Amino acid sequence: MTADSTLSVQTEGPWPVPVLPEGFSLGAATAAYQIEGGTRDGGRGPSGWDAFAALPGSILNGDTADVACDHYHRVPEDVALLKDLGVDAYRFSVAWPRIQPEGSGPANAAGLAFYDRLVDDLLAAGIAPMATLYHWDTPLPLEHSGGWLNRATAERFGEFAAVVGDALGDRIDKWVTVNEPATVTLNGYGLGIHAPGKELLFDALPAAHHQLLAHGLAVQALRAASVAGGIGITNVHSPVSPADPSSPADVLYAELFDAVHNRIFADPVLLGRYPQLPGELAGMLDALHAAPQTDLDVISEPLDFYGLNYYAPTRIAAGSGAESSPDGIAAAMAALPFRLADWPEYPTTGFGWPVAPEHFGTALEQMRDRYAGHLPPVYITENGASFPDEVADSGVVQDHRRVDFLARHLHSALEAVKPGGRAEGVDLRGWFAWSLMDNFEWAAGYSQRFGLVHVDFDTLVRTPKASYHWLRGLIRSRPRTP
Ligand code: BGC
Repeated sequence: MTADSTLSVQTEGPWPVPVLPEGFSLGAATAAYQIEGGTRDGGRGPSGWDAFAALPGSILNGDTADVACDHYHRVPEDVALLKDLGVDAYRFSVAWPRIQPEGSGPANAAGLAFYDRLVDDLLAAGIAPMATLYHWDTPLPLEHSGGWLNRATAERFGEFAAVVGDALGDRIDKWVTVNEPATVTLNGYGLGIHAPGKELLFDALPAAHHQLLAHGLAVQALRAASVAGGIGITNVHSPVSPADPSSPADVLYAELFDAVHNRIFADPVLLGRYPQLPGELAGMLDALHAAPQTDLDVISEPLDFYGLNYYAPTRIAAGSGAESSPDGIAAAMAALPFRLADWPEYPTTGFGWPVAPEHFGTALEQMRDRYAGHLPPVYITENGASFPDEVADSGVVQDHRRVDFLARHLHSALEAVKPGGRAEGVDLRGWFAWSLMDNFEWAAGYSQRFGLVHVDFDTLVRTPKASYHWLRGLIRSRPRTP
C-alpha cells in the first residue's frame, strides 16, 4: 500500500532550479540486492552478500536484505510510483544469482521471467529501462572459488551477460555492465567492510582488473547478442585533494588515492591503459601493469555511453591511524600510510559525507581534461544523499536537505558542461537520482535513507517524500516535445 502523499509538501525553496537542456533524461536508480528481498524465492541462489550479511558484526544492527523493500513482490506498486514521478528512465540491476543460481550454466526461467515482466511494465508505463548487470551480488559458488580474485569469474560474467542479452536485448534501452568496481575492490577486497569481507589492502588490485575484464567481456557478449540498447559501465568518481597542498606527503598520497579510486577504473576503459604513478609510488600498481595488452584491448572496447556516479569529494592526509571510511569503520584503514581528512567547511549528509556540489563540476572537469576525445556521452547514473527522514504526523516527509542536495548538484553539473562552463565538452545526456526508495544500504543496513520515497521497514508502506514531489514538478515543468 502506498501512503497518501498528496498532502501539502513544500517543494520550492532557496535551491536553484536546474535549467535542463532539450532531450536531457531524468531518472531514478536502484539495485537488486538493496530493494528486492525475496532472497529465497523463484529459485534464486545465495549471493556473497547473503553470506557476508549473515556474519555477526558485518552489518549495522545485524540487518539483512532478506526482505529489504520487498520489491520482488511489489513490482506493480513500484512501477506505478515511477510512472507518477514521470521519469524518462529507470535504472535497476539484474541479480546474477536469480538468473544463474550456481554462477554458471543455463538460465533459471523464473529469474528471467521476473525481469521480463519488470521491463514490460516499465515500457508500458513509458519508462526507458536501464539494466545494470552487476551491482555487487556475486553468486556464492563463484565467491567460494575466489570471487573477483579469480579470473574465471570474469569469464562467467561474460556468459551471464550473453544470457541476459539474449532474453532482454530487444527491450533494454541502456546496459550498464558493472557498477562501481572501485567500491567492490576497495570496500570488499581491500578493507573488508563489504562482501566478501577481505582485508587485502593493495593485494586487492587483481579484483579491480578482473571486474574490468568482466566489463569488457560483457560488452562483447551483449554486442554478439545484437542487443538494441547502448552499452556502458558505471564508475564512481570523487575528486581528490590533499589536506595540505603545501605538504609533499599529502600531495603524494592524494595522487595515490585518486589513482586507486578513480583512474585505475576510468583510464583502462577509456584510454586502454593503467595509469603510472610517480616516484616512490611507481611500484604500487605493478599488479595492474602486469596485465597483458590483450586484456586491455577487451577492457577498452568502445562504449556507447559512460556512467558516472557522484556523491562527494575526498580529502587525503598523510599518516595512518584512522579507521573511518566513507562507508563505515574499517580496521584495515589504520594500516594504510594515509587517511581521509574532514571537510569542516561543508555541511554533511546522514553518512557524514560533505555536501559539496561544486566538486561535482570538478569531477566532470577532470573527465574532460583526462579523457577528451575518448569520452562517449555521459550519464550521471547515481547522485544522492542520505538523511534521517521521518514521516510526520501529517503524513508528509519534508526532506528539504535532500531537495537542496539534488537541486544544487544537478544545477552544478549542468552549469559545468554548458557552453563556456568549466567542463564544456562533456556531452552530459542525463541524470539519475539515487535512489527511488530507501533501501538496504550495504554495511549501514537500514540506517541510511537515500530514497525519494520513504519506506517503513516494518510495514513496507511507501511514502513519497518532498524530494519525489520536487523531481516530479521539475519533470512536469519541461516544455512538451511535440
Ligand atoms: C552504490 C549504491 C549505494 C550508494 C550510497 C553507491 O556507491 O552504487 O549501491 O547505495 O552508493 O552508498
